[in-house]
Amino acid sequence: MRKSTSQRGRSGRHTAPESTAAGKDAAPAEPKGYQRTAVEEQTGEIPQQNDPLDDDLPLAREAQRAVRVLNPSGNITMPRPPKRRVIAVANQKGGVGKTTSVVNLAVALALHGNRVMVIDLDPQGNASTGLGVEHGAGTPSVYEGLVDGIPVEQIAQRVEGIPSLQCIPATIDLAGAEVELVNVVAREGRLQKMIDGFSGELDYVLIDCPPSLGLLTVNALVAAAEVLVPIQCEYYALEGLGQLLRNIELVKAHLNSRLRVSTILLTMYDKRTKLADQVEQEVRGHFSELVLDSVVPRSVRLSEAPGYGQSIMTYDPGSRGATSYFEAAEEIARRGAKLSRRQQTNKGGN
Ligand SMILES: Nc1ncnc2c1ncn2[C@@H]1O[C@H](COP(=O)(O)OP(=O)(O)O)[C@@H](O)[C@H]1O
Ligand SMILES: [Mg+2]
Repeated sequence: MRKSTSQRGRSGRHTAPESTAAGKDAAPAEPKGYQRTAVEEQTGEIPQQNDPLDDDLPLAREAQRAVRVLNPSGNITMPRPPKRRVIAVANQKGGVGKTTSVVNLAVALALHGNRVMVIDLDPQGNASTGLGVEHGAGTPSVYEGLVDGIPVEQIAQRVEGIPSLQCIPATIDLAGAEVELVNVVAREGRLQKMIDGFSGELDYVLIDCPPSLGLLTVNALVAAAEVLVPIQCEYYALEGLGQLLRNIELVKAHLNSRLRVSTILLTMYDKRTKLADQVEQEVRGHFSELVLDSVVPRSVRLSEAPGYGQSIMTYDPGSRGATSYFEAAEEIARRGAKLSRRQQTNKGGN
């Protein structure tokens, strides 16, 4: 049975902000010069009171978390789905964590045994930036795939340092696609055609949607079987959600009967505010088991990582942000594996 918010405890391990908001976040290079206390020297751990992962993390624990996140031995695996899962990450509100979630979930899944493709469907190209893939003007991109029908093989790029992760970048050309696609045959199904035409082996396709409900997002909803909705634990978090859900229902009724909201991810949770807790309770009350237990904390480290063309997984693998996305990815993988066993009709590994 799902634990209630109070059972998990508001200082629960999923929701604490980054270690020492005033310390670690403010001083990124800190771990190297960190001075251990006498107690830490003796025990290797700072004594823990209520929450073993709450503030003031000892380096050892942070290092342990980093190893779990980076998985250098390859021993930690997240279950692979029996068939390719295509997930649109959508919310027409901007700045709710769509791109951050796509980038970090993709890297987490890829570092733990899954073959992943990110499709950047936002003309701003933030997911491309976050994964460090080339997306300057003239780079073959999702635009050529959608508008000209160029196959995925020719537009996907490998993400450096993460062997089983690829990204189809978005360039500024995509800004015109919404208008150009209007006169194209089967304009809502272009992305689906592009993805279905790719026979390479993939466990996950994560689509980073733009902050609108226009034709690009509709393409994502037609191509996907699942929608992941990131919800920011802030004022007006739920505003506009009804409209998103109605659009999903419309696409489901007319264009893609398989479509469903499979996952809700709470982002930018600040445990110091009552509001974050209220938003969490409201969302859990409304969407119950669709909401992942893992909640992404508000974290400066998470917002810094894209500036280095990195995910939080590689930028600061021992951080709360990295851990929260690792745990969210694990939940997504576990749920998918369960669902797939029940609903499995196709044993294909791609
Ligand atoms: N958990 C977080 N804590 C702090 N900043 C975050 C967090 N998630 C995202 N951000 C930052 O907030 C901004 C919006 O996030 P982003 O993922 O780009 O949202 P969207 O794709 O929905 O517009 C970005 O600058 C990003 O770095
Ligand atoms: Mg974005």
